[in-house]
Amino acid sequence: MVTASAPGKVYLFGEHAVVYGEPAVPCAIELRARVTVDRRDDDRLRVHAEDLSLDGFTVEYSGDAGDRPDVAVSESLVEAAMGYVDGAIEQARDAAAEPAVGFDVTIESDIPLGGGLGSSAAVVVATIEAATRELDVELDREEIADRAYQVEHDVQDGEASRADTFCSAMGGAVRVEGDDCRTIGAPELPFVVGFDGGAGDTGELVAGVRSLKGEYDFAETTVRTIGDLVLQGERALDDGDAAEIGRLMDFNHGLLSALGVSARRLDEMVWAARDAGAMGAKLTGAGGGGCVVALDDSEGTLTALKYSPACEQAFRADLAREGVRVERD
Ligand code: PMV
Repeated sequence: MVTASAPGKVYLFGEHAVVYGEPAVPCAIELRARVTVDRRDDDRLRVHAEDLSLDGFTVEYSGDAGDRPDVAVSESLVEAAMGYVDGAIEQARDAAAEPAVGFDVTIESDIPLGGGLGSSAAVVVATIEAATRELDVELDREEIADRAYQVEHDVQDGEASRADTFCSAMGGAVRVEGDDCRTIGAPELPFVVGFDGGAGDTGELVAGVRSLKGEYDFAETTVRTIGDLVLQGERALDDGDAAEIGRLMDFNHGLLSALGVSARRLDEMVWAARDAGAMGAKLTGAGGGGCVVALDDSEGTLTALKYSPACEQAFRADLAREGVRVERD
């Protein structure tokens, strides 16, 4: 039996513009998904999931599409969760050249589902690591990231970027530009996350930015300006200049608002954080709803977000230096 864990992420800079080839900087955060994998004597897969914003469910199936469980939770959530776990297990079977091996899989996650914090990527990354180790195969983190990306790509019909899976596998701050992904240095980043309890529709929001770009020159310029800001952000990370990082986060939020992807509750949380003394605050991910990320090493922002009517959950989530790791072997 092997347990592996992998972190979620926030976008420090560059979401949306990354879709058009600009660089972006996601950062891993200390909220983890933990996956325990135990090899079975047969070829079946049994999945027990807790804390996936569901009331805990257990499913057992042989992995073919007709064999779906009867459980008392939203079918789409079960389908989505099982698609990710299925895909990750397939990758592990492929890496170990053991196509018919079965597993019991238990998932626990600290990462709210669907809020743009990379929960599915963390589950996929941790599952691939745990299942391959259970089969005595050791993959390097780049290969885990690549295999996890294939899973997300398949489950999300080709819409996934490499950001979430690479960041979760490697940990720390990473830079993504097209298919080019690398880790970069970063100082301590005292992130505070505010979650409005909802989620925007990523496909719709990306399509909205695309049509705005087609219609207005300012939107095209704004996307390129976000790319320039990311380069400045990388320099600030390199210099360890937290005040400058915060300022650039504020600018990035303004540019995302100009592209129409913020929302009243996200703006309210951003302003609650700024008023409480955060060094900077912005939405993270697709927008429309979901999460904001602020930079503050005092308790001010966390307290302000907890009292903000727009915020359903607020928590501290420092930069996670370590990506995927084995917890128990
Ligand atoms: O909401 P998330 O964390 O899946 O981020 C979406 C980020 C976008 O740049 C809007 C889309 C993408 O695939 O990069």
